[in-house]
Amino acid sequence: HEIDATQHNADKGEFKHYMLKEIYEQPDAVARTIEMALDNNETSKLRDDFLQRYETQLAGIRHVQILACGTSYHSGLVAKYWFESLIRVPCSVEVASEFRYRNPVVVDNCLVICISQSGETADTLSALRDIQKQTPAGLVSLALCNVPTSSLVRETDIFLPTLAGPEIGVASTKAFTTQLAALMLLVLKVGVIQQRVTGERLTTLIGELQQLPGQLYASLNLDAPIKTMSEHFEDKKSCLFLGRGLQFPIALEGALKLKEISYIHAEGYAAGELKHGPLALVDKDMPIVVLAPKDSMFDKLKANMQEVHARHGELFVFASEASQMVAEDRLHVVYVPEVCEVLAPIVYSVPVQLLSYHVAVMRGTDVDQPRNLAKSVTVE
Ligand code: AGP
Repeated sequence: HEIDATQHNADKGEFKHYMLKEIYEQPDAVARTIEMALDNNETSKLRDDFLQRYETQLAGIRHVQILACGTSYHSGLVAKYWFESLIRVPCSVEVASEFRYRNPVVVDNCLVICISQSGETADTLSALRDIQKQTPAGLVSLALCNVPTSSLVRETDIFLPTLAGPEIGVASTKAFTTQLAALMLLVLKVGVIQQRVTGERLTTLIGELQQLPGQLYASLNLDAPIKTMSEHFEDKKSCLFLGRGLQFPIALEGALKLKEISYIHAEGYAAGELKHGPLALVDKDMPIVVLAPKDSMFDKLKANMQEVHARHGELFVFASEASQMVAEDRLHVVYVPEVCEVLAPIVYSVPVQLLSYHVAVMRGTDVDQPRNLAKSVTVE
């Protein structure tokens, strides 16, 4: 299932790499994905035909188990926040390669969501099959997948597509943001069926989703300032990504992107965990990337940034203008377009993708086919 990127050169258009092209395709890909459930003329409800055939099954679920690997796992981590905070449905997320070997308990009336760009990832498929063998009562399985003909789609009850179009670059970009958009639609669908999200709250969330493609489009304007920022990373050995709440999974994703294509060691951390270990790493040579929208966690995150700055760490902050963060010595700030707190992880994915991309290009790596990696991991 490996994809030979050289066969697709003609499709790269004006872009130097598939990865960059796919980053730029995100506003359209997310718009297409959202249209599965939202009608432009209808602002207060989901489309009637969205997952309509599965309403009875979804009405009965009491717990969500998400299984995935790599970037797809990170979108699952964001969905956990959404399932629990927005509609109060308990949700567990685990990397498939761990889940399948630990003899886990699957509770009754569980919705198992397997997230995979390719739908052929061996660990994700095996974890699904293991659950199906246990035959818990009321099990409903759903594939969130970018390839309709994949094994994963064939083996699950429900197929929720990401309409990203083919993703060629090994580093996942538009598959990730479309997964997030589709997961939000699913959270809303379950919430509506189970009457856990109604009225004004629903209308507000739908309105915010409709603004998302425009915000993603605006975030592509950050390309030039992020390219400038990336010059600071060229000779670095190690890098930390920090976020809190909904931005913690984006910190993990940023670190994965950077290590995968630039070969710089990177770690994503929940900023509240800094003082429990990673603060010892901070010195003038380790860049620290911070995802800092002006949200309910911002004041706490600001205190974390001050801890780093006081120890001579160099901060690279993606913030909203409303945060009033201003660049100073060892503090670089790029403003990300305004977006509501709930959907901010989708928009803040773009700057971390662009940063990794430009660092990798500067270091001369094979951006679309990084060493030792395959687009689809069909072996254990
Ligand atoms: C992402 O940039 C990686 N290449 C990788 O982590 C990937 O997300 C993972 O292998 C899972 O693939 P899937 O979504 O096709 O299952």
